[in-house]
Amino acid sequence: MEKTKKYCYGFCLLSSIVINILFSINLYVGGGGGALQWGEKKHETVYRPSLTWSEKAAAEAEAVAAISCSGHGRAYLDSLISYGQTVCECYDCYGGTDCSEFSPDCSADAGGGDPIFLEPFWMQNAEKSAIVVSGWHRMSYRYADYTMIAAVYALSSENSSSPSNVVATIPYYPMYETQTSFFNSEDFQFEGDTNSWKLNNATKNNMDVIEFVTSPNNPDGELKTSVLGGKTIYDHAYLWPHFTPIPGPSDHDLMIFTLSKLTGHAAVRFGWAVIKDKDVYEKVSKYMEVADLGISKDTQLRVLKLLKVVVEDDGKQLFKFAYAKMRERWDRLTSVFSKSTRFSIQERHPLHCNFFNKTRLPSPAYAWVKCEREEEDDCGAVLEAGKIASRGGSTYKAKDRYARLSLIKSQDDFDLLLLRLTELMSLENGKIESI
Ligand SMILES: Cc1ncc(COP(=O)(O)O)c(C=O)c1O
Repeated sequence: MEKTKKYCYGFCLLSSIVINILFSINLYVGGGGGALQWGEKKHETVYRPSLTWSEKAAAEAEAVAAISCSGHGRAYLDSLISYGQTVCECYDCYGGTDCSEFSPDCSADAGGGDPIFLEPFWMQNAEKSAIVVSGWHRMSYRYADYTMIAAVYALSSENSSSPSNVVATIPYYPMYETQTSFFNSEDFQFEGDTNSWKLNNATKNNMDVIEFVTSPNNPDGELKTSVLGGKTIYDHAYLWPHFTPIPGPSDHDLMIFTLSKLTGHAAVRFGWAVIKDKDVYEKVSKYMEVADLGISKDTQLRVLKLLKVVVEDDGKQLFKFAYAKMRERWDRLTSVFSKSTRFSIQERHPLHCNFFNKTRLPSPAYAWVKCEREEEDDCGAVLEAGKIASRGGSTYKAKDRYARLSLIKSQDDFDLLLLRLTELMSLENGKIESI
């Protein structure tokens, strides 16, 4: 009996020591914080911290990302829920609950500039670009950033008897006019095309002008330089190696950029400026502080995560991916247009790219299409009749003989655009009346 008791005490002591060792390892490896789980990876034992509050959110995010929508749509965490199921948001021309139904008569929409062509890159980099944000992440006020109109405000002359004149060169991005006019300021006003302005004001001295120089340009992709050589805002939204060879570092007094055409995240609404002059910088900062109340910290966190992926390997990964995609689209597009005498697209000239260290052709975000037939002076309407939605030249204050086609949308959108263009061009040589 005594002997059995002794064994029992001995066994209890041994078990207690083993359990304590296990707890100590657990605490030590877990840094005194969360509990640990044991896992097997091939033949080695690995420890991974078990998740607590983020586990459900991560599982939800992965579950929704795993919904395939037949490859012709996406499901998002904030998509509609129907009968307990997340509803797929189908790309244009696709429908059905899983986006598998293609509408054969659907028009190709090459109007908008949604940069979805980079979506596959971010899927390939899902692990590196995902963020988990706690409900209490940075709740205090922060003041940060906004760009285009802040730059105009900063360069305009306050307290002058007449407002600064804001100009841009045709064809130009329409938002310069929309924003400048909308703010209806006493300090600046939009005056339209740079060249017309130069002609009309050739004899007047000391005119206060702010010139937007869009380089590369939207809609035609040209690397523009200043016409007037005075105060300039260089808009470098498209100055990325996937759209243009980079001839060298850009070194202007005020340059503005946007995340949307760099990483494809248009909805994040993030832009920045590089400014040489301290007073101009302070005016831009003041504008952002007062008018915009800053960019949300949530946005800044997302951008930080994305830019960390971009700068990895000196930016080679993203730019190689994006350039390969744009180049392939341009190769296919030029091959289609080469068979047409009715339509033409902008000429592209090779340049040395200091980023890739190669001489190559630009691959702009948009094709600037010209309808060559005398009588076809509304190119948007001609394309529309061929089931292609574009943006007409007058949107950019150019002639409507021109139209802009977006090449940066999803692969489905681009494939359908090429199909519709091919159909349209096969109707040339006398069969024009049938469309
Ligand atoms: C020339 C140019 N600048 C600036 C922007 C602004 O870009 P976002 O509104 O995506 O920041 C665009 C967008 O299309 C653009 O084409």
